[in-house]
Amino acid sequence: MMNFNDKVIYQIYVKSFMDSNGDGLGDIAGITSRLSYLEKLGVDYLWLTPVFISPMNDNGYDVADYRKIDPSFGTMEDLEELIEEAKKRGMGIMLDMVFNHTSTAHEWFQKALLGDPKYKDYYIFKKGADGAPPTNWESKFGGNAWEYVPQFDEYYLHLFDKTQADLNWENEEVRKELYDIVNFWLDKGVSGFRFDVVNLISKPETYENDDLGDGRRFYTDGPKIHQYLKELNRKSFGQKEDSLTVGEMSSTSLENCVRYSNPSEKELSMVFNFHHLKVDYEKGDKWSLKPFDFQELKDIFDHWQTGMQEHQGNMALFYNNHDQPRVVSRFGNDKKYHKESAKMLATSIHMLRGIPYIYQGEEFGMTNAYFTSIHEYRDVESTNYYEILRKEGLPEERILEILQAKSRDNGRTPVLWNDEEGRGFTEGTPWIPFAKGPSVSAEKDMKEEDSIFSYYQKLIKLRKSNPVIQEGTYEILEKDHPSLFCYVRALGEKKVLVLNNFYDKEEEFSLINHGFPPVDERNVRLLLTNYNELCTKDEKICLRPYESVIISVEP
Ligand code: NOJ
Repeated sequence: MMNFNDKVIYQIYVKSFMDSNGDGLGDIAGITSRLSYLEKLGVDYLWLTPVFISPMNDNGYDVADYRKIDPSFGTMEDLEELIEEAKKRGMGIMLDMVFNHTSTAHEWFQKALLGDPKYKDYYIFKKGADGAPPTNWESKFGGNAWEYVPQFDEYYLHLFDKTQADLNWENEEVRKELYDIVNFWLDKGVSGFRFDVVNLISKPETYENDDLGDGRRFYTDGPKIHQYLKELNRKSFGQKEDSLTVGEMSSTSLENCVRYSNPSEKELSMVFNFHHLKVDYEKGDKWSLKPFDFQELKDIFDHWQTGMQEHQGNMALFYNNHDQPRVVSRFGNDKKYHKESAKMLATSIHMLRGIPYIYQGEEFGMTNAYFTSIHEYRDVESTNYYEILRKEGLPEERILEILQAKSRDNGRTPVLWNDEEGRGFTEGTPWIPFAKGPSVSAEKDMKEEDSIFSYYQKLIKLRKSNPVIQEGTYEILEKDHPSLFCYVRALGEKKVLVLNNFYDKEEEFSLINHGFPPVDERNVRLLLTNYNELCTKDEKICLRPYESVIISVEP
């Protein structure tokens, strides 16, 4: 298996990236039209969120046909052209495989509903318990995870929306169907895959009530998960040495992620985990408001960095994606220190051990949506929770405040390419309103000398040119400092020191106290900072609001 430590991946939420035909929806041809922008940024792979036929109840994560392109995104020819054009520019295309569930509109499920036993066994149907669903498990989008089917007097399992029925991976034919789909896309020339919530595919032998939680402990990193991933690897992408694969791991553990991503296990190239993105959840509840816990964020990074390094696991490095609020609005300051904090946050993860992901718009500082009415939201999770919180008696104002901070739609507003009416995204009406936060756009940012975009270019170049960043060990410094996240990467005698101030108060970092020579020594070199020049006091480096400093020390 290849190692991807010198690569950077860019995530495209297709529906919101670029609309080429004026219908208000982003599409594949739109992506092709923006390839030179992505090439200029310097990324290696483009991960496209699902583009397959879908009723779009969960924006494509409810797949009705894995081998066909949804007409709202374009045609197979459009995708083939994108693959080819991207390749010319040195970029590979990654597709999103949603294999935990299918849409209930999928032919398999439709046949199951007609009572065809072959296809009924593709899903998880169970009898209820005393007039109630088989178990008390909760759907990730709210409510019970089982849906009743009167003609069978049975329920089917859906860990997500009720139109997303969980597949039965115990069934060998199901697994074979899915491996064939991966091979179909490999033959089309795609370079890699992201596997949606793939650590939920192995369900327990018996289904029982969860008296301690929502059921996740029974099916997360389930009993046969490693066996299934090894088989998937062997029977599909594993036959192509250079395929890049990333598994999305929900509520996972370090121990399992090591196994998922250590090359000797022959499962996946790397994993996404989300523990660091729950540090603003009150007692684990997403639908609450709490300032982010910086110490916890650092502790989680440290735990995962050291654990993955010790056992040669590989992790994806990211703050943003289509399920997360924008980090500059979340852990940064999108008003007074917009640029500084956008760059600092990028630095804080790009220099870690792992593979960085950039989510569309992040590279010029896109912010949260700042919607003020429920009518502006489109996401099924947000609209479900709006109703749930209303039923719980929360005042409308409070609910909207929570959605403003937590809704997945914060990351799903269209890319703001320029300041014109359709923001360079569409000539029609966008499917979801544009973000209402501080006015930013790619064009405006790129005109400025100290643009966020150019800073991202530098971060990418640094990774590509510096083996310490690709392969060096990681160690945290000032572990308990209330505002600084500092770490050192080391390879042989060479070191890269990374300092990040997460707040707006100036701080100091002593080089000597940490065994580094002062900055004026010949072997100390500034690699990058998000301010104009380095600020030093004696042998100390001062870190101004949201400042990042990257320094290399050579023997
Ligand atoms: C994770 C995806 O990222 C999310 O958008 C989707 O709703 C769920 N998986 C279900 O497929």
